[in-house]
Amino acid sequence: MSFAYLTIRDRLPQILTKVIDTVHRNKNKFFEDNGEEGVEAEKKALSFFSKLRNEIQTDKPVLPLTDNQSDTELWNQYLDYQKTLLNKGETPSWFKSPWLYVECYMYRRIQEGLVLSPPISEYDVFREGKTESFFQSQPAIIALCTYLQELKNNVANLSENQKKEELSKLLQVCLWGNKCDLSISGGLDNSQKFSILSSLESFMPFILVNDMESVWAVLSGSKNLESGKELMKRVDIVLDNAGFELITDFVLADALLSLRLASEVHFHAKCMPWFVSDTTKHDFNWTIKHLQAANHKWMSKCGVNWKENLQRSCWIYHEHLFWTLPHEFCMMAQTAPDLYSELQKSDLVIFKGDLNYRKLTGDRKWEFTVPFFQALTTFHPAPLCSIRTLKADVQVGLKPGVGEQLSSNEPDWMISGKYGVVQLSTSV
Ligand code: F6P
Ligand code: MG
Repeated sequence: MSFAYLTIRDRLPQILTKVIDTVHRNKNKFFEDNGEEGVEAEKKALSFFSKLRNEIQTDKPVLPLTDNQSDTELWNQYLDYQKTLLNKGETPSWFKSPWLYVECYMYRRIQEGLVLSPPISEYDVFREGKTESFFQSQPAIIALCTYLQELKNNVANLSENQKKEELSKLLQVCLWGNKCDLSISGGLDNSQKFSILSSLESFMPFILVNDMESVWAVLSGSKNLESGKELMKRVDIVLDNAGFELITDFVLADALLSLRLASEVHFHAKCMPWFVSDTTKHDFNWTIKHLQAANHKWMSKCGVNWKENLQRSCWIYHEHLFWTLPHEFCMMAQTAPDLYSELQKSDLVIFKGDLNYRKLTGDRKWEFTVPFFQALTTFHPAPLCSIRTLKADVQVGLKPGVGEQLSSNEPDWMISGKYGVVQLSTSV
């Protein structure tokens, strides 16, 4: 049985059941905020979500969206496109459509259910889980914030080699932080319970593609040889999950500035709740605000510094609806040319997480040894690096025999999150 099949059969209905439970539990809150209208909206949303779960479980056709949002037309066009891929008379349905498409579509339908249920349209059904996961990771977050502040205090004394080691360490932290997503666990606790820093060495053998040296080369080649002046480098991070993973991204972004490997970091987040734990604007701001007010010296120092980074515009927040479309990234230049040209301004675009990897590679059944560059097909806006733990069955750029050997020894190596890649493509 494929993981795609199990996802549609078990995982998506399980996530929806949790959504239904969350909305129901918050009935009183909706009443307090909006009176009877809130209670009516809760009922409406609940019946929408139950119907949606039933559509999935009984393999009903994928329906056009009806909520008149700025992306509604694009989704409906994409559905029409899916129809053209089928034989005449056939309709795309939950079990008979590409996995990537219907999985994205489910999260967009959840959004539709809320949009059609005012006044609770802005409610994030996944927020409770994200907040809980953040608090459960508290010790690991403290360890990381403390490490970062020590690094910053000592940065002037570091040799180039030591800087390279620090970058590699923080890239690994960022990588393993991607284990903590709540979609793979069906919304159940998947937080980082202990400091990750002491485990990095023992996790090293599980990094299947390790391009960290080349990432260093991309970022450290910042001296203008003629004038000796440092060039300004821009790094973009296409964020994935809130909670511990987002902290690892912030720590990396802060260290990039302190190590003078970048002068600007641009973050890209989701404009609606997505894949349970993905970062929205609210999560982004809440995290920094919460750290600022934390009762721990180094945590709050991080929060204060990060707020300043945003105020000084050396950290810049972006949102684009393309990130919550089902499209693979090779369609970005035509579907979202403004976003594509924004990314072209970057010196390095870091794509966090598994879903981004699936979209980078078009979620195809590539041979394991196909070069990353080739799997990106036409998507080459700037040098780009995927930092991802394996949670879906696509992987490229492996040495001959590696994928086959793993498949025979560990049947679930591509979906367990145990393995990871830091995989770079420099061709533009
Ligand atoms: O299959 C697991 C899954 O739901 C994938 O569909 C998706 O790519 C991934 O989890 C989400 O993981 P991440 O948060 O790393 O993108
Ligand atoms: Mg995610």
